[in-house]
Amino acid sequence: MSLLIRNGEIVTANEQYVADIYCEGETITRIDRCIGGIDAAEVIDATGKYVFPGFIDPHVHIYLPFMGTAAKDTHETASRAALVGGTTTFIEMICPARHEKPLEAFELWLGKAQGKSACDFTFHMGVTRCDDEAEHDFEEIVRRGLSSFKVFLAYKGAFGVTDEELYKTLQLAKRLGVITTAHCENADLILELQKKLLAEGKTGPEYHYWSRPPAVEAEGVHHLMTFAEMTGTHVYTVHTSCEESVREALLGAQRGVNVWIETLIQYLLLDRTDAEKPNFEGAKNVMSPPLRDKKNHPFLWNGLRQGLIATLATDHAPFDFDAQKRMGEGDFTRIPNGIPSLENRVDLYFTHGVKHGRIDLQRFVETASTAAAKIFGLFPRKGAIQLGSDADLVVYDSNYRGTISARTHLMNVDYNSFEGMQVEGRAEVVTVRGKVAARDGHFTGAFGRGQFLRREPTHF
Ligand code: URP
Ligand code: ZN
Ligand code: ZN
Repeated sequence: MSLLIRNGEIVTANEQYVADIYCEGETITRIDRCIGGIDAAEVIDATGKYVFPGFIDPHVHIYLPFMGTAAKDTHETASRAALVGGTTTFIEMICPARHEKPLEAFELWLGKAQGKSACDFTFHMGVTRCDDEAEHDFEEIVRRGLSSFKVFLAYKGAFGVTDEELYKTLQLAKRLGVITTAHCENADLILELQKKLLAEGKTGPEYHYWSRPPAVEAEGVHHLMTFAEMTGTHVYTVHTSCEESVREALLGAQRGVNVWIETLIQYLLLDRTDAEKPNFEGAKNVMSPPLRDKKNHPFLWNGLRQGLIATLATDHAPFDFDAQKRMGEGDFTRIPNGIPSLENRVDLYFTHGVKHGRIDLQRFVETASTAAAKIFGLFPRKGAIQLGSDADLVVYDSNYRGTISARTHLMNVDYNSFEGMQVEGRAEVVTVRGKVAARDGHFTGAFGRGQFLRREPTHF
């Protein structure tokens, strides 16, 4: 099996040049001007197109039992949507209930993805309980190839951990050399604010925001920074939504905390008013932390441009509007939290970032691919176009024009929060380890071909 991509403009996190890429089997084996004398099984003419390393989404939910229901995608539907949108690797959150054994949860999630996913995948191991028995499982899970944990400072009584557990988790992470990703919101404040709002008869989706205002998230980030400082652990703030919480993470960094900040495409393009739409429509855009005031948009874009924010993810969490979001009619605390976006991240980010002049091509690749590979132990196998890297490549047509719609998207969910938005670019050809998996908006890959990516701990 060999593949030749001719004459594309190769764009990585630090380079941009025109060349051919030759892939043998699953790997990039030659990069050169006008490669000749070879007989490739498949030749793709990328003249006038960008060639990016496969994009990596470091925060998705696919199998997710949550808030009395479950996210809608399967690993087939999610990986198909990811690939058509240019994402060749995702990192899924394993989110066990507190009573579940971590090792069993790891095996359950792995079993759901393996033999089903068309793109490569790995997981962050959710630590929803931390006692001696669970710690033993986490050590085994790290031996089996995961090198990142996930803790929730929110969702008390469900996924949330106590401070004692947070401290133990970070100590364990430090000892094992794994990074801890964290959902940062103060769980007790949320519960109190929810009770107060409901008691006042404020039950609609527009009140979700007021149960989790920026201060609640900033307090969560501050909390994580303190614990990370005390334990010397590497941490990563997932779905960082606003200026207040980014500033808390940066203050932590100034004190020496090794922290990386993630934001989401939703927080760059949607805002609080999207969750305030009448007739319960706002429920489509209820997620946690909530969509913020528009004034945060330039702050987040600048953070991405200047390297203060490391990654741009989706936190893909698809719940149907009709049967699932409606569970929260009359009580916003029961609306399943989440916004589906796995398929649209790259095109929206390219359109509003690169095309609109907010970030350059190098930062685009860095924040949507390379940084996640580096932070989570996948580089240079992923996130790079260099000899020996996996042949995960995206031939990108920046002249394409299209409109996002639930009528045409491939995610298994009945609405799209970006409905009607224009995109100025599309993945024309997407390869996973040397094989074409999407072309011109159509899935051409193979379910089950996606590989579980083992990752080694970093001893810091
Ligand atoms: O609202 C969200 N973010 N839903 C998914 C679960 C989580 O907190 O990441
Ligand atoms: Zn979260
Ligand atoms: Zn999430």
